[in-house]
Amino acid sequence: MRHLMNPLDMTTEELDRLFDLANDMEQNMPKYAHLCEGKKLATCFYEPSTRTRLSFESAMLNLGGSVIGFSDAGSSSASKGESVSDTIRVISCFADICAMRHPKEGAPMVAASKSTIPVINAGDGGHQHPTQTLTDLLTIRSLKGRLGNFTVGLCGDLKFGRTVHSLIEALVRYEGINFIFISPPELKVPDYITEHLNELQIPYKEVIKLEDCMPDLDLLYMTRVQRERFFNEEDYVRLKDFYILNKQKLSTAKEDMLILHPLPRVNEISVEVDDDPRAAYFKQVQYGVYVRMALIATLLELV
Ligand code: NCD
Repeated sequence: MRHLMNPLDMTTEELDRLFDLANDMEQNMPKYAHLCEGKKLATCFYEPSTRTRLSFESAMLNLGGSVIGFSDAGSSSASKGESVSDTIRVISCFADICAMRHPKEGAPMVAASKSTIPVINAGDGGHQHPTQTLTDLLTIRSLKGRLGNFTVGLCGDLKFGRTVHSLIEALVRYEGINFIFISPPELKVPDYITEHLNELQIPYKEVIKLEDCMPDLDLLYMTRVQRERFFNEEDYVRLKDFYILNKQKLSTAKEDMLILHPLPRVNEISVEVDDDPRAAYFKQVQYGVYVRMALIATLLELV
């Protein structure tokens, strides 16, 4: 039985197969409409979510399966003191597969170790968010036709942003990737990541101003400042509007640069950018459903 804790749990060949399947699901929805009939997905969300949880649920419903779950720790037995290990043993009796989001780093991994059904990490604290990374990679591959040879700018909260951590880890396996990390000094990418890049000899630069590197970028991944992971509100208020991408800042960007964002957006992308043909963040949401369909079908060994 397989779980998905980290984007690296799948080889690049397995990812290619997953993305081919996701693209086929996109083109031929009706072919897959009964694939998960009789199967249940449990969404166990101990932290707020709109996209990830509903995207999992929508994916399972598209496959003809059904969904159970909770969207708030307060409405689950966690509020009575139940451990994640016990909860997953119980959920294993009710469902065939589980997507779990938890504020504590490693909680879905603890669950996986006790589970008799596949567990998918739907975000654990500031650590990893592998299905967002699958979404990001599928979006890039579908819109650009490849996953290598890009200068990738990641901008915003690179310290607490789990989507950033997962995406960097996943991208280093492709050729010709060159990173530009754009953040205020307080929100720099963690040392363990830059140390890993040094070991792999993957080129990267750390800059503060987005404008300085805009013309070089093939992909620009914007992120929200992760308010819930700050220790004090004052720091959050000081940093929250550090970057606001607008039309004027985009004027020096490449014609075919992709603008990505895992969403939710707060102020970091001005709404005037939404109509720009380079803005791909709402398309990204749609790809998130296809890739989760492909992932559920793969982990349930139905394809
Ligand atoms: C992200 C997350 O939860 O980490 N959202 C998502 O799942 N698409 C990003 C964020 O909350 O900023």
